[in-house]
Amino acid sequence: MGGGAWSVLVAGGTGVLGARIVDRLVRAGHDVFATTRRPERTASIEACGATALLMDALVPADVTRAVETSRPDLIIHELTDLAEFDFGGNARLRVEGTANLVAAARAGGVDHMIAQSIAWAYEPGEDLADETVPLARAEDGSPAFGSVESLEEAVLSLGRGVVLRYGMLYGPGTWYSPKGGAYYRRAREGEVVATTAWTSFVHVEDATDATVAALTWPRGVVNIVDDAATHVDEWGPALVAVAGGAVSSISARAEGRAASNARARSLGWKPRHPSWRESWSQYYE
Ligand SMILES: NC(=O)c1ccc[n+]([C@@H]2O[C@H](COP(=O)([O-])OP(=O)(O)OC[C@H]3O[C@@H](n4cnc5c(N)ncnc54)[C@H](OP(=O)(O)O)[C@@H]3O)[C@@H](O)[C@H]2O)c1
Repeated sequence: MGGGAWSVLVAGGTGVLGARIVDRLVRAGHDVFATTRRPERTASIEACGATALLMDALVPADVTRAVETSRPDLIIHELTDLAEFDFGGNARLRVEGTANLVAAARAGGVDHMIAQSIAWAYEPGEDLADETVPLARAEDGSPAFGSVESLEEAVLSLGRGVVLRYGMLYGPGTWYSPKGGAYYRRAREGEVVATTAWTSFVHVEDATDATVAALTWPRGVVNIVDDAATHVDEWGPALVAVAGGAVSSISARAEGRAASNARARSLGWKPRHPSWRESWSQYYE
């Protein structure tokens, strides 16, 4: 693949990341196809210059049709099911939706895929995890994030599979947005429940930049996080303060681990928002 226009299929083209990625790729001159399940969302895709395709990732025939229609050089997998906090549905989408997408890619002769994963699935620890650190195990030795491992294995089975382990997204449209973000709303009530105590954040703009940069990255796994690893004991009270609340309770579902962005930096990406600490003071002002 040379440096000219590519045909790119963005699966999940209406999500908080997908929509930004579609917009950036269209502006860069690529031929972009973007999927949604909802007919009422096709207009916003078409308005930014992409071709909308209706696709439910859990329906193999839909996925095959999307790949056959777009004949992509590259598939970008930004499918999540988190708008209603449906973690079971999200896990199913990671496993079945990814399997359907990878199978359709293979059938269509596409071996290049960039997929969304998470940076907080590493085994617990206080130092930063690079991409060689194993993912967390439950007490019985089974994967603590089985659906994440399933997604990553499927994507990396492709000749040019790239897995981006994004940190906790903040910025417009995210859980931390002052305009309707669920975690921000809770912080106004004084409550913080972190996914993991050790946390790496990343601004949605930086996650978008990294995904576009990853068009030319080699097969493998890359953490996409800011430089300012933190713990909920630090960022929890800070979030409550910017939301204008008074702390009532701060907890985390798991200990987790923050991540290193050294590999992404070595590939040429660098965050425009290197620290959530400075970025939040502007974002929430
Ligand atoms: N790393 C992180 O911290 C992280 C990552 C992702 C999301 N989030 C949070 O989750 C919240 C919601 O995320 P979001 O705006 O991206 O929305 P979302 O509801 O998670 O949907 C993301 C994309 O996946 C598509 N999708 C979902 N289920 C599908 C299915 N079965 N088949 C095909 N497509 C499907 C959606 O398309 P439709 O148009 O069909 O709904 C949409 O394009 C955000 O506030 C964000 O902060 C956080």
